[in-house]
Amino acid sequence: MKDWIKFIHSPVTCSRACVIVACVSLLIVTGCSGSGDDDTNNEDTTIGALTSLGPLPNPSLTEAPSADDEPIPEPGIFNTASPLQLVRNPGPRIPQPIEVELTDADFAAGPLPAIVSIPDDLDPANNAAPRFENLNDVEVVAGELLEVLYKPVDDDGDLPGMFPEELPVGGSFDDNLDGTKTFRWQPLQMDVGINEFTVTALDFRNNQYRTTRTIRIKVTLPEDPSSIPNVAPTLDPFVPHTVRRNDPVVLELKGIDLNGTLATLELLSDLPGSSFVQHPRFEEIYTLQFTPTTVGPLDIDVLVRDTVDTSLTSIGTVTVDVLAESDFNRNGQRLRDLAAARNIKFGFAALPFFYHRPDGGIYAAIAAEEFNLVSPESSMKMATVNPFPGRYEFADVDNLVAYAKQNDIEVHGHPIVWHRQVPDWILNAEPTSLQGHMREYIVRLMNRYKDDVKLWDVVNEPIGDNGGYRESVWYKGMGERYLDIAFQQAREQDPEATLVLNDFDIAINGPKADTLFNMIDSLQARNIPLDAIGFQLHVFTSFDQFEEVRSNFQKVADRDLDIYITELDVALNGEDGFDKQAQVYRSIVEICLEQPRCKAIQTWGFTDQYSFREVFTPLFFGKDYQPKPAYTAIQNALEN
Ligand code: XIL
Repeated sequence: MKDWIKFIHSPVTCSRACVIVACVSLLIVTGCSGSGDDDTNNEDTTIGALTSLGPLPNPSLTEAPSADDEPIPEPGIFNTASPLQLVRNPGPRIPQPIEVELTDADFAAGPLPAIVSIPDDLDPANNAAPRFENLNDVEVVAGELLEVLYKPVDDDGDLPGMFPEELPVGGSFDDNLDGTKTFRWQPLQMDVGINEFTVTALDFRNNQYRTTRTIRIKVTLPEDPSSIPNVAPTLDPFVPHTVRRNDPVVLELKGIDLNGTLATLELLSDLPGSSFVQHPRFEEIYTLQFTPTTVGPLDIDVLVRDTVDTSLTSIGTVTVDVLAESDFNRNGQRLRDLAAARNIKFGFAALPFFYHRPDGGIYAAIAAEEFNLVSPESSMKMATVNPFPGRYEFADVDNLVAYAKQNDIEVHGHPIVWHRQVPDWILNAEPTSLQGHMREYIVRLMNRYKDDVKLWDVVNEPIGDNGGYRESVWYKGMGERYLDIAFQQAREQDPEATLVLNDFDIAINGPKADTLFNMIDSLQARNIPLDAIGFQLHVFTSFDQFEEVRSNFQKVADRDLDIYITELDVALNGEDGFDKQAQVYRSIVEICLEQPRCKAIQTWGFTDQYSFREVFTPLFFGKDYQPKPAYTAIQNALEN
């Protein structure tokens, strides 16, 4: 029997509840069958009324981070947030998880069934679902033009709307102005294999009533592959950026050649003092670096050249808008200072590698001025940090921590245990090994940042969409006890850290909030360490359940826990504008200020240029880094 398993068998001082905890977690690993062995070298490691979880798996299930995983200094050309010393993950580049490619067998299995989503309040007996007429999988030879007609129909006689998901490069979805659309695509060498294209039809009367169809497109090589037309390569589209005069701007540009050869890039525009070089590690990327010294919009032209037929070229344009330093001045006081005066923190979630973005300079500058708390938006997710057993990628978090220290910003670790952005090796692991993997991961991650991160989202989103426990990979491996084990392990690792349970849709009444309070009560009854609840608050401008937020905050406070607003953003609904958005921000900030246990407000990003809900422009700086009405509203709320 492994040492760490034996350990929890041995007699220790603890309440009845904790014996059950130990036994249940043990059951999963061993069946809880053996009686206590005597040869354990355990001491009484009781924490409060709880038994220590005991030693970690020994030998460890996967390798701990080693010198091979230590980030190495990044060459200066990429540094847009100087004077930060940047590091990158060590080479050779870790292979990305291989995407499972579809096979001929998938194609032969026949068309995928339609997926119908029915809103809760709709009775399909009274309203037929929209559907597509005569839609089938198709086969096409590379180089030929494929045309597929999409004709949505509804047996109620209405004309359904429709929208496509991602189009393949070079494909189009053209409106025939008669209720139908045509998907047109000329696949080339790069597309040989089985491809998918997805379109959703919307019911005319209720646009949440939808039917989604995915067709498979088998692309084969013609007998004579040289018959496939060679098309000009193009520049991978690059969204416009707003930058600040005198900040270094770094643009990583790439050509796309659908014939599968490498395109070369040449800078056409004359940019004084610029450099334009092929990336040292990725030959398809060219790095343009320059420091704009004059203001105004700048169109940068790049020539993309085919390597097989060098006369075949196209020109791509990249736009940056250069603003003067003073254009970023903001009225009033900075949010972090206003918040500090009210004894709370004001924070944001930092975009991965923000210091490598073309606008990294202004991003880093505004963030340092406005915030005193930061979560990594994605760089601390397990799939990123620990993509393969025994491999660790810490560079981006290391950079964030260094930046935060330099600017007196506290770091909020997010998330440790979550059901999304989990590496494949965990999804495929034996359920009985998940407890060990989870414990090792908690210890390794918290240990690396023990001096710099004192606030942790230990478990993220444990509650199911309709209440109850979410059936995450962790839940499937350990049952409800995964929460106990995660929090207990986190407390053992850092007794001083604030341990948060973070979730969404728990500020409003409903099954998720009901589960939350039951969950807290049960964790507390068993003395599981928990310090705070994180309320994500990704809301819309139509949000008006402020009383519910107030009262749910109070219920958390009544349970002697702190409150963190962890991921606030306010997406625009329908006709609503930025003033409505400002009101919602303001009301939420006020609720936090009213509640003594509310310790921080963090928004999920700060500029609409970088938001995971970008289309809804949910943040309080525009894409141009100018404050929106919500910025002033937050200032006012913090001031009054
Ligand atoms: C999101 C990031 O913002 C995205 O960029 C990423 O692709 C997916 O994750 N709840 C959370 C966050 O706890 O970690 C999620 O962040 C947003 C929802």
